[in-house]
Amino acid sequence: MTILAIIGGTGLTALDDLIMNEQKSVETPFGTPSSPLLMGEYQGKEVIFLPRHGQQHTIAPHKVNYRANIWALYALGVEKIIAIAAVGAIDLNLHPGTLAVPDQIIDYTYGREQSFYSDDFTADRHLDFTYPYDVELRKEILAAAVRQKITITDGGSYGATQGPRLETAAEIKRLAQDGCAMVGMTGMPEAYLARELGMAYASCAVMANWAAGISGHEIQMTDIEHVLNEGMTQVKQLLAEIIRLQ
Ligand code: HPA
Repeated sequence: MTILAIIGGTGLTALDDLIMNEQKSVETPFGTPSSPLLMGEYQGKEVIFLPRHGQQHTIAPHKVNYRANIWALYALGVEKIIAIAAVGAIDLNLHPGTLAVPDQIIDYTYGREQSFYSDDFTADRHLDFTYPYDVELRKEILAAAVRQKITITDGGSYGATQGPRLETAAEIKRLAQDGCAMVGMTGMPEAYLARELGMAYASCAVMANWAAGISGHEIQMTDIEHVLNEGMTQVKQLLAEIIRLQ
């Protein structure tokens, strides 16, 4: 059986209905993951949950030890990762509160460890990343959304910014010109590290707000929290459907 892991982001630090069997603290050659891995059963199926920012949401996006997180999941035999990500919406068709499954990435982050092989590089480590998300896993998420009658957008480029600050209006204009449909702070190097270890990785993005400058108002954290609460209810419904069919 394929072991599925969920990486939860802002707004999803726990899976309410997860029957937790064990919390596993895993040490990796790259350090300690954001939290012990929460091993349990969801809808009668085995699933592993990892809150990306820690159980108390204390780890900033640029401080997440992405290598330790992905390595720890790999070490436990995980083959599929669904990454939940709160994002700002740039494409005007992506309204706050709705979901999307991005199909491309533009990486604007810097200073993050991008590879497991940084210190031990050989030419054969230049891996293909033309399609950064796993095609089959994307389809699984989209099909589950259709079955649950959850509105979800198929595709869009995810712009990964450094954070922890939100962007300026001019930065978002530039991202829009680059073709980004949404912007978040954690999509990279997470997606690529999963690729390095041969794990299927796809993301379910929740539009938390209009990205900077799009609505004409400044971004309020209270609005983001409110929208995310509602969006995550749909995410949980979606995850339940995906996990049920594993
Ligand atoms: N920008 C970057 N990351 C985000 C945003 C945003 O507007 N909203 C939620 N995560």
